[in-house]
Amino acid sequence: MTSVNLTIAAAPESACDPDLATAPWDFDQVPGYGPGASANDVAPPSAPRQGTLPAEYREAPEDELHARIEAARAELGSRVVVLGHYYQRDEIVAHADFLGDSFQLANAAQTVPDAEAIVFCGVHFMAETADILAKPGQSVILPNLAAGCSMADMADIDSVEEAWASLMDVYGTEPDADGRQPVIPVTYMNSAADLKAFCGRNGGIVCTSSNAETVLKWAFERGQRVLFFPDQHLGRNTAKALGITEEQMPMWSPFQRMGGNTPETLADARVILWHGFCSVHKRFTVDQIAKARADYPGVRVIVHPECPAPVVDAADEAGSTAYIRRAVTTATEPTVFAIGTEINMVNRLANEHPQHTIFCLDPTVCPCSTMYRIHPGYLAWVLESLVKGEVVNQVTVPDDVAADAKVALERMLAAKPPAASTSPVVEPVATTVA
Ligand code: 13P
Ligand code: SF4
Repeated sequence: MTSVNLTIAAAPESACDPDLATAPWDFDQVPGYGPGASANDVAPPSAPRQGTLPAEYREAPEDELHARIEAARAELGSRVVVLGHYYQRDEIVAHADFLGDSFQLANAAQTVPDAEAIVFCGVHFMAETADILAKPGQSVILPNLAAGCSMADMADIDSVEEAWASLMDVYGTEPDADGRQPVIPVTYMNSAADLKAFCGRNGGIVCTSSNAETVLKWAFERGQRVLFFPDQHLGRNTAKALGITEEQMPMWSPFQRMGGNTPETLADARVILWHGFCSVHKRFTVDQIAKARADYPGVRVIVHPECPAPVVDAADEAGSTAYIRRAVTTATEPTVFAIGTEINMVNRLANEHPQHTIFCLDPTVCPCSTMYRIHPGYLAWVLESLVKGEVVNQVTVPDDVAADAKVALERMLAAKPPAASTSPVVEPVATTVA
């Protein structure tokens, strides 16, 4: 990583929060999710809090931080591997060994067996998954502990246990004549480790945005219905594709009695959808797609399946971050792409593929504000701490939780998803980031 242009991608013409117009963002000084698309989401009391970063990192100019990160990386060599999610800012991706989606990155560490430390520049649930899959002796570090995922935080173990008990009251606990359980729990990768463990213990499974259909089919072979958490939109979009109707998909709202349902509304349920959503992806609209089609006849519209169902229906394609990236990188003819996902990823695709016209569907779209909490100051801090022999901000999943969560993850792998979706292949990062 020798030649790095630290120019930050131009801020969108107007942003959802005026603070976003200047980049890089300030260090987060107050607990919460900070400015951005999830500014109005509430950080649960259990969300990890980041202590104040030492002044030397808060006050250092960007080029000094860059040089210090490079120096620490050189000193640590293969003892450390740095992972960057597609949604990270470019100043962080510039230092990553691998760029990928959440599951690819969790697997990436396994390709670097000498690495004692895995620095995960993503969000909390991703670091937990990496810890579950890490080899003994490897520590996983999240540079800013406040980098959570507001959607993952919309389901917690107590609320899910409570929902489960209510559903068992309604449906009973006995399998039907075909041996299918009353309910199979399915959790999206964007969830805490204890929810993955819950699925492991209760005959359930994990899914990603690329294999959700395969996983739902797996669940229906073993169960009469599914409890899907935390993302209602991924659950709805996937179930719809399998021919399940809206009426068969009641919503479960935590903190309401019976999730806001009655035994009657639950009677014909096939997929019970948790009331969770991604604040970044729920901003995309059908009107934006109509405008893109009017402005660019022939435009190829691709959205992430965390978008609401009408948006997915109006798009040409829906797919995971890895899917979207592949669609762009494999397009052989100059193409106009209108993309419905996080702005850092869209801007990077646009910079890397000047032969195409690539823009974000939402002209005022915000970055994922929690992902954005990984500022270069935090990366410099955790790496220089490693040089001094200190592991700071380690994310550790207790052994019993990790064992159960691994069961649910292994079921996902055994469900034989499409090869490209959960492939452990990750992309080494190019040496120059524009
Ligand atoms: P991936 O699993 O595709 O990395 O997406 C994670 C995410 O948070 C999407 O909003
Ligand atoms: Fe979570 Fe949405 Fe950010 Fe993805 S984009 S990490 S789902 S808040």
